[in-house]
Amino acid sequence: MEQYIIKGGNPLVGEVSISGAKNAALGILAATIMANESVYISNLPDVRDINVLLEAIADTGAIVERRGRHDVRINGATINNYVVENNFIKKMRASYYLLGAMLGKYHHAEVSLPGGCDIGSRPIDQHLKGFRALGATAVVRNGMIVVDARQLVGAHIYFDMVSVGATINVMLAATMAVGRTVLENVAKEPHVVDVANLLNTMGANIKGAGTDVIRIEGVRLLHGGDYSVIPDQIEAGTFLFGAALTKGDVTVKNVIPKHLDCLTSKLREIGCEVSECDDQVRVVAKQRLRSANVKTLPYPGFPTDMQPQMTVVLALSEGTSIVTESIFENRFKYVDELRRMGAEIFVEGNSAIIRGVPELTGTPVTAPDLRAGAALVLAGLAADGVTVVDDIKFILRGYEDFAEKLQGLGGEIKLIKNEHELQKSRMMIV
Ligand code: EPZ
Repeated sequence: MEQYIIKGGNPLVGEVSISGAKNAALGILAATIMANESVYISNLPDVRDINVLLEAIADTGAIVERRGRHDVRINGATINNYVVENNFIKKMRASYYLLGAMLGKYHHAEVSLPGGCDIGSRPIDQHLKGFRALGATAVVRNGMIVVDARQLVGAHIYFDMVSVGATINVMLAATMAVGRTVLENVAKEPHVVDVANLLNTMGANIKGAGTDVIRIEGVRLLHGGDYSVIPDQIEAGTFLFGAALTKGDVTVKNVIPKHLDCLTSKLREIGCEVSECDDQVRVVAKQRLRSANVKTLPYPGFPTDMQPQMTVVLALSEGTSIVTESIFENRFKYVDELRRMGAEIFVEGNSAIIRGVPELTGTPVTAPDLRAGAALVLAGLAADGVTVVDDIKFILRGYEDFAEKLQGLGGEIKLIKNEHELQKSRMMIV
């Protein structure tokens, strides 16, 4: 089982280049199959979730040509299989984007019920509500979601809650529906806008992505194109919070500073210096940081995907903080692990009450999901002594070269592939 072994204590200092956004790329890759021409995607992050989705796309019969570590050409003209049932895909939430893409293009799709990080119950009723409103039937049969339509017709759909996945999925299907679709109460995340921008590059007619209402005039055909994925807001945030936590000085490069406003405003509030220029953001933390209250909200609110990293920062800040998770009901599972490192955190319902401690100490911990795993790595880098983070398969799903990038900033962290390597590294590191 892969693990990270970390010796804490070094401030993170230096520059790090941010990869393409995983959650944007997942929607984008699904969208590419809707054309019968080549679509070239660049700035793809080289992470497990992306590689699994590419495998699933190849399984449909589409041409998937890896042109480099971060570039791919996809052509959906040769698709001959509308059933996506793959051992890996069950573990990955974004497999469901193939439902919207294939329903839009072929009026039929069958995809395994999605898995993904265990952070809450994660229903998909809003996706199905949208598909049905466009005229499709949507049922769950033998563990598969089966969607089918004779014709898709544009509709006015008001989502019951703001959902990134439902917004993207229904937008995909509506892109090739007959007539006009209006989606209300939609997600405004940068990755929703990125998927809409790609679809427009391919000839779609989508307006309003990034606002509460998306208007789509259906088109009969989509064509090829060339598109670069936006930088990953959450990866960038993770490194900036690492700077805050280790009293470091980190510049993230290749970012869109506007996408980071919800994070940098919190970093300023707790005492960090933040500066921005063009496509870079720098965070400097010189002294112990202050407490703050944080509530996760849909974009442009504070992202749930940065909640564990924020909690770790506050665990070492002076005073008492409250972090409220309002998106997923099960996203505090890492708190027990942090407590074993010396943090004083109590979870009451959907809030964590954090009494800042002056130091954390290293110990073996287990990553319960992707972002919590990244937060435990940050905790290890700030802690006194050695931390071993187990079950890092979750982290590898979403962070490209995480250990290497942290090493480039002065962090002592190593990816370990087996028990033998672990013992060897322990002896070297302690
Ligand atoms: C996306 O998940 C991201 N995943 C998540 O990233 C992220 O945490 C989440 O958005 C919120 O920003 C991908 O993009 C692949 P939602 P998604 O639908 O689309 C409820 C990461 O670490 N809901 O916006 O599944 C749902 O239960 C992760 O990269 C319904 O009730 O999230 C939740 O409470 C993990 N019915 C809320 O809405 C539905 O049909 C928001 O979920 C859909 C959602």
